[in-house]
Amino acid sequence: MKENISIDLKNAGNFIPHEEVIALAQQSVRHLDALNNGTGAGNDFLGWLSLPDQILNQLERIEHVAKHLRSVSDTTVVIGIGGSYLGAKAVIDALSHSFPPYLKTKHHQILYAGHNICEYYMSDLIEILEGRNYSIIVISKSGTTTEPALAFRILKDHLERKVGKATAADRIIAITDSSKGALRSLAETNGYDTFSIPDNIGGRYSVLTPVGLLPIAVSGLDIRMIVKGAIAMEEVTRKNKNASTNPSLLYASARNLILHSGRAIEILVGFTPRLHYLSEWWKQLYGESEGKEGKGIFPASVDFTTDLHSLGQYIQEGQRFLFETMISVKNSRKKLTIPSEKDDSDQLNYLAGKRLSEVNHQAETGTILAHNDGKVPVIIINVPEVDEFYIGQLIYFFEIACAVSGYILDVNPFDQPGVEAYKKNMFALLNKPGFEEAGKKLKERLK
Ligand code: PA5
Repeated sequence: MKENISIDLKNAGNFIPHEEVIALAQQSVRHLDALNNGTGAGNDFLGWLSLPDQILNQLERIEHVAKHLRSVSDTTVVIGIGGSYLGAKAVIDALSHSFPPYLKTKHHQILYAGHNICEYYMSDLIEILEGRNYSIIVISKSGTTTEPALAFRILKDHLERKVGKATAADRIIAITDSSKGALRSLAETNGYDTFSIPDNIGGRYSVLTPVGLLPIAVSGLDIRMIVKGAIAMEEVTRKNKNASTNPSLLYASARNLILHSGRAIEILVGFTPRLHYLSEWWKQLYGESEGKEGKGIFPASVDFTTDLHSLGQYIQEGQRFLFETMISVKNSRKKLTIPSEKDDSDQLNYLAGKRLSEVNHQAETGTILAHNDGKVPVIIINVPEVDEFYIGQLIYFFEIACAVSGYILDVNPFDQPGVEAYKKNMFALLNKPGFEEAGKKLKERLK
């Protein structure tokens, strides 16, 4: 049996006593009960809790559709924003080659759109797509979000002109609400194949639904192994009331105790660029779930050792209002040994024969010690390796920890009322019908 990811709190121990973490984790079993019994805030959004088992019967269809897209195209554009694209991108980036465009071997390329409104980005994308045989997966739970809706309008028009309406319809998959929203109507009118996002699963908790799994399967990764990892994590988190062996309860409790010690910024640290988008996904999950009612920990992220040469200075010596959560990966699946050089002109022969990952590990240990000396508590998440199984574990681990943490903070971790504020202003400024009054007021303010 594979070992599980685990939490190591010794480098946070100087700042939060271990007994206090265990005590809060034990008290937080009631939050786990509230999740399991559906008695807490936001209890109409708990579908993700049992997803690892529930999704099993959809995997065959997801794989079938993925196979179809791979057979009719060489590129798939995933259109979505926030929870409708970050999970897929996090997993695909973590598990794919670092330089996909330069690979000589034949592979299916995944590109993204609808997560910005940048004219450069869309124009450049269209330029690339001119020479590609591409498909589209358009994802929007509400079916009305402006960014993906705009990108889809533009790309649908491009694809239809390129391959004709009927072929385009065969290459467009829509993932949206089962009955509501403009995307559902569009899909029905045009005869697109569709997947539904269950009502009780919010965007940022949807990576283990077709929202995440279809693009991941199209990229060629093993979605069954991801789900298997999530199921293994469900056993030791959701189904485990022993606080001292439940990594999600320990993590949620530790970060809240650190918050009480005056550190309101949590930096997720990875020592591989492959995890960059996992951090982006994590930031959305925690930022949208906890940042409300004047509460919450601000989620930030860095990629080390890259950012040790930029933000490292601040983390070491700047204002002491932050802590780190480090994803420590034990094994690298690729091997690269440092060569020896006869005249040692760069004075690196002391490293000759060592693997690059060994040097990276020592950089990691050195950083933890230095940051501890700089009064930065460090929570460590030990991950045996970056593969489908452990990415599945990390996803479920972070999701359940986030829900428990939200309950510890006494907020509803499943809504995001603040996201509407910019949208209302944008619609008003763009003269969207229905926003005329608001538009007048805003224009007054801008005079
Ligand atoms: O987590 C969330 O609910 C949000 O980030 C949404 O995923 C995001 O706003 C996109 O919404 P939709 O899928 O409705 O287009």
